[in-house]
Amino acid sequence: MTPTIIPLPAECRPVRGAGFKLNPRTPVVASAKNAALRRVAQQFAQRLGLEVVGAARPRAVTLRLEPALKKTLGTEGYRLSSRTAGVTIRAATAQGVFYGTQSLRQLLPPETERLGAGAAPGFIVPALEITDRPRFGWRGAMLDPARRFLSVAETKRFIDAMVLHKLNVLHWHLVDDQGWRLEIKKYPKLTEIGAWRTESPRYGNRDEGDGTPHGGFYTQAQIREVVTYAAERFITVVPEIELPGHVASVVAAYPQLGNRDVPGFAPKVVTRWGIQPYTYAPSEPVFGFLADVMAEVVQLFPSKFVHIGGDEAIKDQWQQSAFAQKAIRKLGLKDEHELQSWFIRRVEKILARHGRRLIGWDEIQEGGLSPTATMMVWRDWKWAEFAIAQGNDVVMSPTTHCYLDHYQADPKTTDEPEAIGGHNPLENVYALDPVPPGLKPAQQKHVLGVQGNLWGEYLTSARQVEYMAFPRLSALAEVGWTPPARKDWAGFRARLEPLLKRLELLGVNYRRPDPLR
Ligand code: ACM
Repeated sequence: MTPTIIPLPAECRPVRGAGFKLNPRTPVVASAKNAALRRVAQQFAQRLGLEVVGAARPRAVTLRLEPALKKTLGTEGYRLSSRTAGVTIRAATAQGVFYGTQSLRQLLPPETERLGAGAAPGFIVPALEITDRPRFGWRGAMLDPARRFLSVAETKRFIDAMVLHKLNVLHWHLVDDQGWRLEIKKYPKLTEIGAWRTESPRYGNRDEGDGTPHGGFYTQAQIREVVTYAAERFITVVPEIELPGHVASVVAAYPQLGNRDVPGFAPKVVTRWGIQPYTYAPSEPVFGFLADVMAEVVQLFPSKFVHIGGDEAIKDQWQQSAFAQKAIRKLGLKDEHELQSWFIRRVEKILARHGRRLIGWDEIQEGGLSPTATMMVWRDWKWAEFAIAQGNDVVMSPTTHCYLDHYQADPKTTDEPEAIGGHNPLENVYALDPVPPGLKPAQQKHVLGVQGNLWGEYLTSARQVEYMAFPRLSALAEVGWTPPARKDWAGFRARLEPLLKRLELLGVNYRRPDPLR
């Protein structure tokens, strides 16, 4: 049986009976003893205008924690039983129950997404039995406000859309050449200077400037607001603090952190896209700076992982810098790649002092991969195989399937808005199996999960971010959650219609998928 739920549950079978009739007087039962469970109940009840009660009631939606279910359902799984007499959602954790309520939400008509609509009389939840748990623990999406600033409200709306898909990681790309977006108390110039650029590439011609200043940053209070909002929806915000490259905005604010001895050193917050030469100097003051920044970052983000970027750090400046060359010799390193590896290991030690783990783009293997680092694979799958063979964990986000800034349809034959390039249609995203072929069963656990990336260069507004995200992120949610044997493209396309209606009612933009061929 295939209920109209995305991502499709691992198991679902119909049972005999007429199903449960949900009406405006249906109570939502959740023990008052567990605050997280109670909040999940409130979140579900609020949308439908229902009342939350503590004691068991007949004809109710009952939410229950059963720690023993952890053995079979893990920390994110749940069971949903719908009968004429009521609906019961059980899980080992409040997170599992939360996902159960998301499935129940999708068993109700899309019109219930209209906030405050209330439960119109007589919504029927079909009689069924769902047993569900995700395939992967990391089901992510990346936002890039460094390239194009997104407000707190826009970010929260994106989080709301993630919730509907049971996604659980928001990777927040807060640092890049074109802007630093995170208030750091000890270094105010990061946002006074680093958060602002004089212009951006012009729409339609990336080589020209648009003459319009752009910028913005999140105060620490706003960061906390977003992190809390996400956490209340079981989404972990993983901040990305790029290094050692993609830091022109930092070096513009604090030139002493850059390679000052290279010819033509004149850092500015960058106004064009593409890879830039500015990297940190491999100096002790830089590590002091990074230790200070990370000390504030870990206060703001409870995430176990901190993303340190590590991608596309071209070595031109380190090659030209007498200081960097001296560091290479003094440390007994072979070249600039080993210097990068050394640099990243120093940062990993800083994070470890705070009990955090480092994750970085796949370039973190250049010059040697730290045995305790986690790799986010974006270029070649060989890097996943390389990391896994060494016993490292990976998150799969390959350009071949996970770059949601690429075109969704051929721009030559459609009127798609300008994108960075590439062609990554919905069906291609859906076809992804993020586990590299040929892994031994014991190695598969090193694939933590999958993530879609919304690089911001060509996403000129939150509406455009959403247009590129959905429904491709809906497809990726199913890749990350549903057992591969249950995946079914035609079935997904059919289930997509009510989901798109939900997004519409939530005020989330999306691209209407092409008709099935
Ligand atoms: C990347 O796309 N530079 C990770």
